[in-house]
Amino acid sequence: MTLRKFLPTALIALTPLMATSAFAAGLTVGFSQIGSESGWRAAETSVSKSEAQKRNITLKIADAQQKQENQIKAIRSFVAQGVDAIFLAPVVATGWDAVLGEAKDAKIPVILLDRDIETANKSLYLTAVTSDSVHEGTVAGEWLARQVGDKPCNVVELQGTVGASVATNRKKGFDDAIAKHANIKVIRSQTGDFTRAKGKEVAESFLKAENGGKNICALYAHNDDMAVGAIQAIKEAGLKPGKDILVVSIDAVPDIFKAFMAGEANATVELTPNMAGPAFDALIAYKDKGTVPPKWIQTESKLYTPADDPQKIYDSKKGLGYCSGPGGHDGHGRVCPAAAFAPRREAAL
Ligand code: AHR
Repeated sequence: MTLRKFLPTALIALTPLMATSAFAAGLTVGFSQIGSESGWRAAETSVSKSEAQKRNITLKIADAQQKQENQIKAIRSFVAQGVDAIFLAPVVATGWDAVLGEAKDAKIPVILLDRDIETANKSLYLTAVTSDSVHEGTVAGEWLARQVGDKPCNVVELQGTVGASVATNRKKGFDDAIAKHANIKVIRSQTGDFTRAKGKEVAESFLKAENGGKNICALYAHNDDMAVGAIQAIKEAGLKPGKDILVVSIDAVPDIFKAFMAGEANATVELTPNMAGPAFDALIAYKDKGTVPPKWIQTESKLYTPADDPQKIYDSKKGLGYCSGPGGHDGHGRVCPAAAFAPRREAAL
């Protein structure tokens, strides 16, 4: 049986109809991207480029290498260049008011991609294209509760980047879901920075502290890359991931479907890498016709399990640019080159 959870459809950008307009061809958009910490992030960057190309939009990408200060510099540079709009994937939720105020003064609309910011002044951005990341955590928690029933279950949690909206929200959603089940407890929770390497390292420390992993019933990771790192750690500890320790995570990158096929992971909640497509369409309608988009353009979240034909889903993700770190796979069945993870800046600022 297919176990899929669909969000209410009213606000969801399902298959956005591409806004076609001669107007789009003249637009230049600056995109302050977080970095390349995960396979999902690599795919988001790649899909953003192809969505821009489809519309003949010039996209300038600045890679912030996980640093908010680099994002602030990039935004200032985009303002100085007089771009038509700025896309921002904010590494952390707070500290944006001043720089977004500068963009607003310059009459440059800002669209948030995939993460939210905390601000009392919502006029600082035009719209946010994101999933409901609290709901993602809830879906993961509810899935686990269904799996374990009444059995006691100690959970270890790998959190995303400290201060990122998605890390805070995925934790909250999961905590709320398991709060209804006294038998399920999070016994350890620490950041793995959304990376495969840190996910493995932190999982190793959890396993060591919890009787070689024998006290652990499930691992919840805020993204698939950390889960894949943890799976390796669990195997090296002599346990079977997916059986001795259940593994649930978020993103639906190709490598987690490989892990499903190997019986080493149990569930993932999909996050689409196509945040830019709906953002471009909202921007074009706004610039061309003055149509003000809703403040939140919500993307779909689906739960996948090994019952969902993992080979088919793995194949369907080909060509989207997922690359999950050295030793990971890019969705074409190719192993990612280490060079893909060298720090880079994609646009001269
Ligand atoms: O903001 C989205 C999150 O950022 C993805 O789930 C994670 O893989 C990425 O690093």
